[in-house]
Amino acid sequence: MRIDVLTLFPEVCEPFFSASILGRARQAGHVSIACHNIRDYSKDPHQKVDDRPYGGGPGMVMTCPPIFDAVEAVEKLDRRDATRILLTPQGERLDQRLAKELSRRDRLLLIAGHYEGFDERIRLGLSPLELSIGDYVLSGGEAAALVLVDAVVRLLPGVLGDAESTTEESFSLSESGSPIRESDVETAGGACCLEYPQYTRPREFRGLEVPAVLINGDHGKIEAWRRAQAMERTKKRRPDLLSE
Ligand code: ADE
Repeated sequence: MRIDVLTLFPEVCEPFFSASILGRARQAGHVSIACHNIRDYSKDPHQKVDDRPYGGGPGMVMTCPPIFDAVEAVEKLDRRDATRILLTPQGERLDQRLAKELSRRDRLLLIAGHYEGFDERIRLGLSPLELSIGDYVLSGGEAAALVLVDAVVRLLPGVLGDAESTTEESFSLSESGSPIRESDVETAGGACCLEYPQYTRPREFRGLEVPAVLINGDHGKIEAWRRAQAMERTKKRRPDLLSE
């Protein structure tokens, strides 16, 4: 997969893409990621990329020319068709099912904006998918682009090692980074359930003991306990995942 990110702050994005699992995925050739500064495509003498809104009102609006020029130039860098994605709080909400779907594409082109918003003709002319990472407003699309890239790249075949993607973990929405099995995603319409509680050494910490079932070595009982815990936790915290 190839991912291009158009941004005003490539220096913010690049270190994130070079660290940890994403960095390893790039080095191993599972994904190539390139950040491009939208300002480099501005023809303004001061490299401006925003302007005041027609009709008045507060804030500045990202202008069409540098974004269209950047999209067209960057798309030419590779023959594969790019899925264009505009990060905006007005977009469809990113979830695990969508991340999985995007992980099947050959190429993604992300556009991260700043200021009060985009000139509407960016939407009309480039017809991007519009994605939001949640119902809150960030000061720019970069953090959302990082979230999206992380969620997608870890689903690419070969990116997570065995230790990170064991089947025992994979039925849950895991904190530890395990994927949700596709079958679970399909049966549960997005995600099955939250992850069961995890423990590691020491066996007792400040009076809190590791549950005995995890220590007795009976794998059948451990599995049953984990499933029950995962279900209980999901019912309590995210009943919406079950009703879906
Ligand atoms: N840009 C600003 N807020 C955003 C959000 N919640 N999701 C995606 N892009 C954004």
